[in-house]
Amino acid sequence: MQEERIISQKARGNEDKSLDLSLRPKNLSEYVGQSKVKQNLEIFMGAAKKRREPIEHVLLYGPPGLGKTTLAGVIANEMEVNIKVTSGPAIERAGDVAAILTNLEDGDILFIDEIHRLNKTVEEVLYPAMEDYALDLVVGKGPSARVLKLDLPRFTLIGATTRISLLSSPLRDRFGAIYPLSFYEENEIGEIISRSSNILSINIENLANTKIAQRSRRTPRIANRLLKRVRDYVDVKADGIITPALADEALHLLEVDELGLDQVDRKILATIIEKFGGGPVGLNTLAAATSEEEATIEDIYEPFLMQLGFLERTPRGRVASERAYSHLGAQSKDNLSSALFN
Ligand SMILES: Nc1ncnc2c1ncn2[C@@H]1O[C@H](COP(=O)(O)OP(=O)(O)OP(=O)(O)O)[C@@H](O)[C@H]1O
Ligand SMILES: [Mg+2]
Repeated sequence: MQEERIISQKARGNEDKSLDLSLRPKNLSEYVGQSKVKQNLEIFMGAAKKRREPIEHVLLYGPPGLGKTTLAGVIANEMEVNIKVTSGPAIERAGDVAAILTNLEDGDILFIDEIHRLNKTVEEVLYPAMEDYALDLVVGKGPSARVLKLDLPRFTLIGATTRISLLSSPLRDRFGAIYPLSFYEENEIGEIISRSSNILSINIENLANTKIAQRSRRTPRIANRLLKRVRDYVDVKADGIITPALADEALHLLEVDELGLDQVDRKILATIIEKFGGGPVGLNTLAAATSEEEATIEDIYEPFLMQLGFLERTPRGRVASERAYSHLGAQSKDNLSSALFN
């Protein structure tokens, strides 16, 4: 199950709220990687500051754990404004969003996580709010209903989503800037591991850092989580210094392979190869054959498998690449051992 996976990209339990809070970068200079986004943001924020205006609405998108929520906090910090945090599923009615908007102050940032999950009625309240800082309230019902216009403070909406394709285009069009977050380079993940080690007073050797970085799926959240689990292992088994050998042992125990794949990733690839001759196979068929949910495969597993070049999405379905075959230990498409399923 997703929740049980050590390499889950999603936050587990309270990890982002408690310990992780101290690991969250607060300024742009502490925010590792994503250099293109940072450069653009610097101009975007600098210009707004110079004009003494709030920044335009920002949409951040990308796979879980890459730093969308963190970046929203960084933006608020850099702009020296308050940030109010909510999420798509938490706002159910038009009245909820009206209450949130009218409680904002000039310059405030409203962060809406999982913004693709807003319902239509709520979205429609947001359109005039985003465009004209106005709230159109419908008072009364039927023929006597009338629209009351309320002025709103000049706020900035920051939306985050893992599924930009699910965002309606009228909503998407109202963002002044749309920034994609991409998977991190391995050396950037190494930098994040060093930074977190410093903050948590963890003693780690360079090569051990690299070993963890290689298995972190280029995702900061996973890097921090693996670091903490390896630290646990070393605290129990040794004297507290993370050496490469200890890192290997700990990671082996966690069943994360040298590319950061776990059994579910391997099962997905092996299923495509073994049961469907390497593909193409449709998402729903693949989901049924692996007993995983379609959305989970699409949002959590596939982005990284595609990033590795192991999997391709084609109009006819998912296809496993030669690289996937060789990672799973098959010499060719013909002799992948069925031992994979044992
Ligand atoms: N650029 C970065 N530099 C250093 N640490 C980072 C960076 N990005 C993210 N992190 C770390 O990774 C953790 C996860 O990041 P964050 O919660 O912002 O991801 P997210 O994209 O919002 O994920 P989700 O889609 O699940 O909401 C943070 O708590 C933070 O410690
Ligand atoms: Mg988040």
